[in-house]
Formats: sequence, structure tokens, C-alpha cells
Amino acid sequence: MCGIVGYIGSRDVPSVLLGSLWRLEYRGYDSSGIAVISNSELIVRKVPGKLSELEELIKRKPVSGELGIGHTRWATHGLPQENNTHPLLDCNEEIALVVNGIIENYLSLKDELEAKGHIFRSLTDSEVIVHLIEEHAGKGLTEAVRLAVKKLTGNFAFAVIKISERNKIVCARHDAPLICCYSEKEAAVASDMSGVVSIFDEVIDIPNDSIVVLGRGKCSITNFQGREVKFTRRKVTIAVKDIDKGHYPHFMLKEIYEQPKVLHNIVSERIIDSRIQLGEELSISEEELKKISRIVIQACGTSWHAGLVGKYIIEKFARIHTEVDISSEFRYRDAVLDSDTLIMAISQSGETADTIAGLREAKVKFLKVLSLVNVLQSSIHRESDGIIGIMAGPEIGVASTKAYTAEIVNLYFLALHLGILRGFVSRAQLKEHFSALMKVPEQVEQILKLDSDIKAIAEIFCNSRDFLFLGRGLNYATALEGALKLKEISYINATGYAAGEMKHGPIALIDHKMPVVCVNPRSSVYEKMLSNIQEVVARKGIPISVVTKGDRRTKGASKHVIPIPECHECVSPILAVIPLQLLAYHIATLKELDVDRPRNLAKSVTVE
Ligand code: F6R
Repeated sequence: MCGIVGYIGSRDVPSVLLGSLWRLEYRGYDSSGIAVISNSELIVRKVPGKLSELEELIKRKPVSGELGIGHTRWATHGLPQENNTHPLLDCNEEIALVVNGIIENYLSLKDELEAKGHIFRSLTDSEVIVHLIEEHAGKGLTEAVRLAVKKLTGNFAFAVIKISERNKIVCARHDAPLICCYSEKEAAVASDMSGVVSIFDEVIDIPNDSIVVLGRGKCSITNFQGREVKFTRRKVTIAVKDIDKGHYPHFMLKEIYEQPKVLHNIVSERIIDSRIQLGEELSISEEELKKISRIVIQACGTSWHAGLVGKYIIEKFARIHTEVDISSEFRYRDAVLDSDTLIMAISQSGETADTIAGLREAKVKFLKVLSLVNVLQSSIHRESDGIIGIMAGPEIGVASTKAYTAEIVNLYFLALHLGILRGFVSRAQLKEHFSALMKVPEQVEQILKLDSDIKAIAEIFCNSRDFLFLGRGLNYATALEGALKLKEISYINATGYAAGEMKHGPIALIDHKMPVVCVNPRSSVYEKMLSNIQEVVARKGIPISVVTKGDRRTKGASKHVIPIPECHECVSPILAVIPLQLLAYHIATLKELDVDRPRNLAKSVTVE
């Protein structure tokens, strides 16, 4: 949700800002803009639409300056049009501001400020911040920011510059991500590490509820009350190549193809000397884990789907009652939680607002939180009691792919670990599971070889209006995830359903035009699922089935089949989702849609 950047130093400021914005574009791409200060002048360039249009504008109307800020927007309040595009200015056009977040009390603040004569130009909630700063500008920019943040409720991260104080960028954060870095001659701020990766080797994770003043060779951090906050730097852990598309046309395709390597790395890191290693940051003792009587997993979107797979395998291997909740529901439902309940958050970004709120809800009740998180040092990482790193590497494509399969493999290891601790998994069974997991990377490679066959199926169905996805047991989640992938990047109405539940409603949708993706690898519910496929056929629906190689019976009932290798039932959700990722990708590209920038979406959902 919105990317913010700022730079002060001797490099070409607009180029640095644009370079950083390109790397943060996945956070939002409705509109973008920059503001630079040059010789006592504040110059703004902004456009609704893609970042490439801002780049064009800057080429046509070049700017230069000593420092600047930039923004790429995911609209919450106000359409993506020029007046709502950041940077936002104060009445006198001397202060420029870029914001990520939501100001919940903006309407009352706006009334107050308008009554004092401030003129608002946008419909954004964020604009109140720049006018609040303007109100106190006589006290200096840093103090004005401190007074402004005290009036705000909601979550925010922002950067602000002022003509008369052009030796500094002032930033603040409350429950929204922000990092900064500085060296002798320059300094920068960004929503995340990818915004500064090409300039700095080290970053500072700005502590929550603090204000940062950045200058050339200078960084001071204070809390909202004005007390100094100590900070440490950490190494930049990603390389430019990790966040570039390489030879792939889209990040999504690159990330689908990265899965064998990612899964191989996880399996190699988690199995050491025939034992499970969940990493140094698990931080919850074996004694504590043994005492757990219930697990509540809370997550959003694709991570929630991984949680559904987690429920099945944790209950199967460890016999611990496990619930999976959508974070936006969990946070408000006042769930019954006792002291032996372990709360788990699953999040690729580690910054999903609802998942953070769910985690805090648990902490208020003094419950332990163990999180699976991909982005290290993210809010979820920092606020959890224990962490299992997802280890998917940077995921830029808005549609999550490699993080999903990586989340499932990590949940698999956690479930086995709990199973061993509680005596439900024997050493011999563990060996069997290890062998199943070790085969996965190679099996995913084999499925990726079917890319052109899957594309051929995509060609047949890319103009379908609706899709139904069905699965049972462990692959109920696969059906949900396949449907989510398709709808979010192709805008086709796709419904994922538990196949056994189909006859209680969705069966009414099936006619001779309806493609029905049926996930039916060999499993304990194979026969049941096969009967469901027959029910689809009897209504003239068109089954496209994901099957275990050599399965003639499902093939006989289906119009098209996509074979996956023979595997342990518990790894089948990892394998079966790969063809569905490719199917969604090809359908969207055949429809000439922008796969990496699907409409209305953004990668990191930092607002509620
Ligand atoms: C779908 C997708 C989203 C995310 C969801 C949670 O492809 O990417 O549904 O899975 O927004 O995000 P994280 O995992 O970052 O908390």
C-alpha cells in the first residue's frame, strides 16, 4: 500500500527517487509523484497512472534539486487523479509530504483546519498531515512533525521536506513500515529495503512511534515525546538481482519458476542430521510447545490458504486442535482463547495490517505468538514471540506464488516437529516424510515442464466468464488458492469450493459453458472427489482435472487433465497448486492484462 521514498545527497535526486519508486512500485501503482527542493523552490511532478508516465513527464519537464521525496500510490481516499496524487502540499506550497497509511480521524481534523483557514486540494485523508505541520511550522519542521503526529489516529509512515529547511528530510512512523539509511554524504528513507538496495549496504529499521531527522551524514531518531531512541544498522540482505525480473517477462512467472530452488533451500535448511531445525528464532521452548492444547492460525488471502493446509497437517501429525481464521475476522470476534492456545500469524510481507492487529489482540491476552514470516525485521517479525522464516526470498509479483508453497513446506516441518514432541510421529514415519519432502523440488520441476500444455488449456478457456475450482481435504485450500490466483490477475469470476459442499449451492452455476477445475490427486478423498467430478459431468460442466500421473479414471471423466507426479498425500497441495498458478498466469497474459500490476491490488496491505 503506497511506497514512499526520500533522498538527500549529491547524486541526481530525481533519478534516485525514480529508481527507488520503480522498486517499490509493487506497493501501489494508481499514481505517482516526486517533489524536489532546488534553490529555494519546491518543484513537484506528479501523474495519475503508471510510474512510466511519471518518468515520461520528468523527461519532458526535467527537474534537479538538493533533496526530494517520492510516492507511488494505492488509493484509499479519493480517485487516482492528479489532485489526490502525492506529494501533497501545504497552503503556501512550501512543505511537501508523502504518506503511506490511513488517518482515521481526518474528517474532524480537516474541519478544524478548514475553520482555521487551511485550503484543501485533495480528497485524501493524508492531506491533513501537511496542514497540521504547516500550523506549527514556525517551531521548525521537526517540532511541527512532533506536534502533528500527536493529533493523528490510524497508521502512517511519512516523509516531509520544507523549502526553508532544505538540509533535512523529516520522517515519522506509527504502525506502518519505514526504513532509513545514511552515510557521510547522503541519506535516504523508503518503505522497505528494496527502495535503497542499489545505494546503501546497511539500513536502520525505524522503531515504531518515532521521528527521524535525516541529513547528509546525519540521522537522529527520537520518540514522539522527543526522547532520543538508540538504533542499530543491519546489512541489506537482498541483492538487486533478487528484485529484478531477469529474463522473465513478469515477476509472477519468475517467481513461479523459482519454486524448485526455494523449496530445495527450505528442505535443506530444515533437515539437518535427520532432525528438524526450525531455526534459531523459534524462541518457544519444547516444554512450552508440548503444553499447547490448541492452535489458532490467523492470516489473510493466500497466507490464509496456507494456514488451511497447516490445519490439516498439524491436526494429522500432532493431534492438536487447530483453527484457521481470517485476520480481519479474528481481530474483532473476541475469540475464546485460553493460556494453552498458541496463536500463529502467517504473512509473506510481515506488514499486513489485519494480521498485525490479530497478533496484538493475542499479545494483549498474554498469549504466545509464533509467526511464519518472509520479510525479516518486518512488524510481524519484530512483534512475535517466535519466528519461523518462510525463506521464499523477495516476492515482488502481486499474486503470491512462491511464498505460498514455501509457507506450506514450513508448516509441514512445524507439524512434524510438534508430532514428534507429542509422540504421534515415529522416527520411521519422520524418515518417510523427509523422503517425500526431499522429492518435492524435482517434482515441481517436472510440473513446470508442462507449461506449454497448460498454456494450451488457457487458450481454450481464456474467454470464459466464470470458473469453478473444486477440491477436498488438503486440496480444498488448493481450490481456493487456484480461484484466487485466477480472479486477482485475470478478473474472471472464479469461485473456489469444497467439492463436497458443491451440491449445497454452487452446482446451480454449472452448465455446458462452465470450466470446473477439479483438484484430484491420489488421496484419502480420491473416490469422493471422483464422484463430485461425475456430478459436474452430469450437468455438462467442463472438468479440467489436476490428477496423479497415470490416473485413468479421473482422466476418463475429465475434458482436460494436468498430471502431477505420484506423491505423498500431504505434499500434494504443494504440487497441485503449481499448474493452477500457471493457468492463471497464462489466462491473464492471453487477455493482455498487466499480471504484475493487477487492478486495485497492491502487494503489501498495510491498511485495514
Ligand atoms: C494473493 C495475495 C494476497 C496476500 C494477502 C496476505 O495472491 O498475495 O491475498 O496473500 O494480502 O499478505 P501477506 O502474506 O503479506 O500477509
